[in-house]
Amino acid sequence: MSVGPPLWLLAELTYRCPLHCVFCSNPTEFAATGAELATADWLRVLREARALGAVQLGLSGGEPLARDDLEPIIAAAHSLGYYINLITSGVGMTEERIRAFKAAGLDHIQLSFQDSSRELNDFLSSTRTFELKSRVAALIRQYEYPMVLNVVLHRLNIDHVDEILAMAERIGAEYVELANTQYYGWAWLNRDHLLPTRAQLERAEAAAQRVRARLGSRMQIFFVVPDYFETRPKACMNGLGSVFLAVTPDGTALPCHAARMLPGLTFPNVLESDLRSIWYESEAFNRFRGEGWMKEPCRSCPERHKDHGGCRCQAFLLTGDAANTDPVCDLSPHHHLVTEAVARAERAAAAAGNGTPSAGPGTPAVVSRPHELVFRDHRISIAVEHGSGATAGGQARGES
Ligand code: SF4
Ligand code: FES
Repeated sequence: MSVGPPLWLLAELTYRCPLHCVFCSNPTEFAATGAELATADWLRVLREARALGAVQLGLSGGEPLARDDLEPIIAAAHSLGYYINLITSGVGMTEERIRAFKAAGLDHIQLSFQDSSRELNDFLSSTRTFELKSRVAALIRQYEYPMVLNVVLHRLNIDHVDEILAMAERIGAEYVELANTQYYGWAWLNRDHLLPTRAQLERAEAAAQRVRARLGSRMQIFFVVPDYFETRPKACMNGLGSVFLAVTPDGTALPCHAARMLPGLTFPNVLESDLRSIWYESEAFNRFRGEGWMKEPCRSCPERHKDHGGCRCQAFLLTGDAANTDPVCDLSPHHHLVTEAVARAERAAAAAGNGTPSAGPGTPAVVSRPHELVFRDHRISIAVEHGSGATAGGQARGES
């Protein structure tokens, strides 16, 4: 099998983050990871990945602005010829920094909001950051970056799509990504509270479509449907080890940002190996390349070239075996795990009084019961690492 180069390099510069989002995709055990790479290590990673063929660079975290060496990292990436995207909550952005980023050659800033209302934005991140984000949005425009907003959708804010898009229009967004939560990391712990209902999803898509029709190309809206509502999985990472390479704050190289949880694999570290050998030779990057690892029904399925059997992390989280067919696929013998989760979400939403048309776009009831959610937190991360079961409502979660 011929292996192409990594095209995408995701540099997760730090797991430090002032926010505590309930849907964070960082590993729940982030507190147990090693020391962050030094600036010189990151510069070497950039050079090695570029030499391999990487062209797109994502700078993320945690909150990448927590690193005080972003400016030299951006400057080095720019001189190497990367297209550089900073993925940020905005916390830590100042006019001085954005001016320095512009001078260093940063191409693109993606700013996240949690909601259009201050109350829910601040609740979901457990911080008071709504006003700050609005100020950062103004800075992004002032420095003539394309205005790119990202709002992660879930049961608690998906009824606000009209308001979110009105906010996006007010602040002059050119691109809005309404990305339904992917259930890894902290979002996995909170899945039963975050999974929307089908009715919510349909209303939200219709709302996005109305705004699209009204604004045309003035504001591009990307609505990413949660795959739990599909019958075919996403071609996650275009297949592991195909185009995507993530490096975590401590230098662990991963074929997808969530892959560290996959059992039976030893992930190499950029402090010990060069990226060329990591990409082409390591077991971690080869294990799920191609189709040889597939089990039935993927192994003989005519659609396997299209979706590569779906998402390995999701297959592992839901079935305990990363080589299984992603249970989102309705040909999977485990598909019931997905439909049962959706059914549970429908029942929970009905009981909580959200997710129904009559509930409208108000504040979800869980805001008054924050103990039902697990907020990304250093202390809880340590508890998760030690297996003391910090899950929503203090209960270990099961699949039934
Ligand atoms: Fe894709 Fe596997 Fe489902 Fe076929 S069986 S559609 S390859 S996930
Ligand atoms: Fe890891 Fe899909 S998130 S393979």
